[in-house]
This record gives sequence, C-alpha cells and structure tokens, in this order.
Amino acid sequence: MIGVLASGTGTNLQALLDAQLPVVAVASNRRDAPALERAGAIPSAAFELADYGDRAARDAAMAEWLHTQGVRLVVLAGYTHLLTPAFLDRFPNAVVNVHPSLLPRFPGAHAVEEQLKAGVRESGATVHLVDEGVDSGPVLAQERIEVRADDTAETLHERIKEIEHRLLPRVVEELCAR
Ligand code: GRF
Repeated sequence: MIGVLASGTGTNLQALLDAQLPVVAVASNRRDAPALERAGAIPSAAFELADYGDRAARDAAMAEWLHTQGVRLVVLAGYTHLLTPAFLDRFPNAVVNVHPSLLPRFPGAHAVEEQLKAGVRESGATVHLVDEGVDSGPVLAQERIEVRADDTAETLHERIKEIEHRLLPRVVEELCAR
C-alpha cells in the first residue's frame, strides 16, 4: 500500500499509476500542486506548512493521515520539503525518493543546473531510501545517461525523467514484493 508525496507536476506519480502499483493515497505540501489532480479517485490531501505550528506538527499530521489510508511504503515523487523524524519514525526504512543525478553527486533542489554548470559528461537518476539529510540516504538503484554538448537544463531534465519513469516503478515494485 503506497502513499505518494508530490509537490510539482507529478509525472513520477503518473508513472507509478500507469504501472498499476497500489497507490492508496497522495499528499502534497502545496494545495495547488498539479500532481494532486493526477490522483483522480485516489484519496488526496494537502498539508501546507502555514496551516501548522511547525514542520514537526505538519509532518506528524501527514504521517497520521497516510497511516489512516493504510499506507506502508511512502514514495517521494518530486516532494520539495525535507522530512523530520516526526514523519520518518512512523515509516522506518519505508520512505524512498527519486532524484535527478547520480547521487551522492549533486544532491539538492538544483541538481540538473549544477550538473550542466560543472560540465559533467554523465548524468542519471537515483532512487534511494530517505533519511533526514538532503538526498543522503542509501542508494537502491541508479541508471546513467550521457550529457550531450547541446543539452539545456530542460532537455537534460526531460531525458533524466524518462529514466525516472522506468526506474522508480521498478524499484517500488521490488520493495512491495519484499
Ligand atoms: C524529478 O526530476 C525528481 O527526480 C525530482 O523532482 C522531479 C519531479 O518531477 N525530485 P515530477 O513532479 O514527478 O514530474
């Protein structure tokens, strides 16, 4: 039973849905996240920081809601906030994230731009377990692609996302089978 957290466009959420994985809940830190619209009939909810006293209170409420929906595995699919122990302790070793670089290189929110700036020849996508750090948990799977001389942040991110949309459902399916 999978819960997905997403803050943006939600193409990775869509890939999980297309793979017919058992997504039972979708949550976001943004009420206006386009990802929430992809949930369709699946229960969805927004947990905006401004509605809570602090991050721990918001994360506790979000974890509680996901538990209520029966979630056992949480997938971060473009979720932009760090998770506090108030959340992570409710789902031990059961939170995964997808990131657009070959971690541990280029963690953080601007990974694609930073890779181009650094002039790397190779990029890719990583799926990893989530801890309190910035994209710092143990790596579960990676796939590489070549960076082209004429790549822009948009074209490179687009090709990385094509990898993510294959890699993330595969890893999540393996975790569900455990
Ligand atoms: C993806 O590139 C993911 O790796 C990163 O945020 C992006 C989310 O895209 N963490 P989307 O919202 O799934 O389209």
